[in-house]
Amino acid sequence: MHVLMVNGSPNEGGCTYTALTEIANELGKCDVTSEIIQIGKQGIRGCIGWGKCREKNGNQCVFRDDVVNVILEKAKTADGFVFGSPVYFASANGSMVSLMDRLFYAGRSLFRMKPGVCIVSARRAGTTAAYDQLNKYIEVSEMIMVPSPYWNMVHGHTPEEVKQDEEGMWIMRSIGQNMGWMLNILKNAQQNNICVPEALPAVKTNFIR
Ligand SMILES: Cc1cc2nc3c(=O)[nH]c(=O)nc-3n(C[C@H](O)[C@H](O)[C@H](O)COP(=O)(O)O)c2cc1C
Repeated sequence: MHVLMVNGSPNEGGCTYTALTEIANELGKCDVTSEIIQIGKQGIRGCIGWGKCREKNGNQCVFRDDVVNVILEKAKTADGFVFGSPVYFASANGSMVSLMDRLFYAGRSLFRMKPGVCIVSARRAGTTAAYDQLNKYIEVSEMIMVPSPYWNMVHGHTPEEVKQDEEGMWIMRSIGQNMGWMLNILKNAQQNNICVPEALPAVKTNFIR
């Protein structure tokens, strides 16, 4: 079993990375491997809603000059996902939002019925707003939200400060443990032919009657 982690921060080895690593360590104890994909400092353009990705384009975005399609390709085989972002002006950071819009517009079915969880890292404030924002992607795509004992955040401006946030690190370890447990249960279900139900045909009314 393998978990794909996406770090929206431009800071390699920064605060968000520190939190993700704590989750990864706990996943390892449950025989779950993981990798962190760092957006880094590259630009991620926003979704233009063209819809070509939905016309039998193999869950690929038409813009091929950044990491979006790399993640979509890896998502085909990943068993679970962690999305981490620093808080910028009480929201997820801009690159992360552009990335998430395109990932879930082009590849929503790749995430369906797989465990997913979002975490945020902030110096001080805006965590719950950013956390709610990211959770929208999990909720709307029928992902299985990983439980945790508090809202998924760490505080700090440096990795050292994040490590001092003992409660935040406990939350991250709890996420890792719970996600590992969920993945093992799902594997067990699959081995016992308990299959994921097919998505019902979509009904869209656009509020027009
Ligand atoms: C443009 C910008 C906006 C920020 N806005 C906030 C904010 O609204 N609230 C907050 O607590 N920290 C804010 N921060 C600080 C970062 O969220 C915080 O240091 C975070 O832990 C950095 O994570 P990273 O090292 O993974 O990038 C901001 C940082 C930047 C660069």
